[in-house]
Amino acid sequence: MTSLAGSTALVTGASSGIGAATATLLARRGTRVLLTGRDEAALRRVADATGGNHLAADLGDDDAAARVAGWAGAVDVLVCNAGVGWAGPLVDMPTADLDRLVTVNVLAPLRLARAVLPGMVARRRGHLVLVSSIAGCMGVGEEAVYAATKAALRTFADSVRYEVAGSGVGVSVVVPGVVDTAFFDRRGTPYPRRRPRPVPPEEVARALVDAVERDRAEVFVPRWLRLPARLHGAVPGLVRTLQRHFG
Ligand SMILES: NC(=O)c1ccc[n+]([C@@H]2O[C@H](COP(=O)([O-])OP(=O)(O)OC[C@H]3O[C@@H](n4cnc5c(N)ncnc54)[C@H](OP(=O)(O)O)[C@@H]3O)[C@@H](O)[C@H]2O)c1
Repeated sequence: MTSLAGSTALVTGASSGIGAATATLLARRGTRVLLTGRDEAALRRVADATGGNHLAADLGDDDAAARVAGWAGAVDVLVCNAGVGWAGPLVDMPTADLDRLVTVNVLAPLRLARAVLPGMVARRRGHLVLVSSIAGCMGVGEEAVYAATKAALRTFADSVRYEVAGSGVGVSVVVPGVVDTAFFDRRGTPYPRRRPRPVPPEEVARALVDAVERDRAEVFVPRWLRLPARLHGAVPGLVRTLQRHFG
């Protein structure tokens, strides 16, 4: 896709943080935004600011992705951004939390992509965006399930990109490091490190929109995070040793 003006985008997790910033930027580009999340009042505020429409839905519910996709209809851009974290030793993680992370972070985006992709391919126009995390590239102790859900999105995106090559549909993965949003408060465990410093959600939104406009396969925010991710692929033993020592 070269131009977002006049297109329609469905943004999940649009009530807060990266999703709200993305919806705002897309609307500025002339995109009609369809906003979803659970918090009706917050969604309405973003809808008022962007001229968009909203639907409150809990993506932890089994039928939610189908309901959201049916409500949205034909979309040019799907931004799968909604996500939740959980931090702590895996042995202490309640099964209900594990299931919730997998449902919201993985099943819902896969189901949404499956629902909107046929229309995009038929119209020979569209873009899927999956919001992953640096945790999904590196692995993070005490975030095992979260990291696994985010890794799943990257592999899903790489695979679908092969399938839709030449169809006019693009697929991008956005890999943020640490972002200054409500994410850490909501998971109940604050961000434990001093570095990398959190970036504002608007910076992630800019990278995300740029990825759609330039059809980029993967963007890191901040950009330097590409280095540890690539090193992890090239020399995993060294990176694991460094991570064990420096976190
Ligand atoms: N913050 C970071 O450091 C960071 C780093 C890397 C990746 N990410 C990823 O970035 C994405 C956005 O996170 P954020 O930082 O912007 O955090 P956030 O401010 O907490 O936003 C999370 C969004 O997801 C929605 N959401 C959560 N559970 C949901 C559910 N069951 N059903 C529907 N919507 C749900 C929330 O909507 P409601 O509150 O309305 O339900 C909210 O709009 C997530 O996928 C996260 O994993 C964040």
